[in-house]
Amino acid sequence: MLPLLVTWLIRYGHVLAGAIWVGGYALMVLVLIPRLARPANETLLGVTIGIMRVLSYAGTATIVFGLILVWRTRGYATIMRGGEWGGIIITCLVIAIALLGMGDSALRPALRNMAQTGDGGRARRLAWIGFILTIIAIGLMTRALYAVS
Ligand code: HEM
Repeated sequence: MLPLLVTWLIRYGHVLAGAIWVGGYALMVLVLIPRLARPANETLLGVTIGIMRVLSYAGTATIVFGLILVWRTRGYATIMRGGEWGGIIITCLVIAIALLGMGDSALRPALRNMAQTGDGGRARRLAWIGFILTIIAIGLMTRALYAVS
């Protein structure tokens, strides 16, 4: 009973953090960035950079809970054996690390640049890439439960 409860809590933490991550990118792409492209707005820029910081924390939590969840579900040995489940987990790990890196080292500076120069092309592209990557990760992760190998 207790091990099941612990696994559920870890899954809960993982999905909750992932939802914040995905939702944050949706907010950036659909609401904040289109408005930031208009004349410089310091308040909105501050809010957007703050949200980016929250997304970094949510992304880190998603990865940490995910790594624990590997251990609590089919285990690292299953990843070593290859197969669909291991492939999904490795792909999502790569996506998640790329997303974290992109958010911190590329999207945040691009947002600052956008607010200063009004040129939002790079920030918009990066935010869309992030959003699409999170959507792909959700698709893969929800498949993991049904992976046969
Ligand atoms: C953008 C990143 C990610 C998102 C949005 C995400 C989301 C999710 C969701 C929604 C589930 C629940 C699937 C279900 O119960 O049907 C899940 C399960 C899982 N995730 Fe992730 N995840 C992400 C990244 C990761 C990473 C980086 C790892 C590990 C390193 C990971 C490991 C797992 C594991 C082990 C499960 C359970 C699979 C099973 O029950 O067989 N996830 N994830």
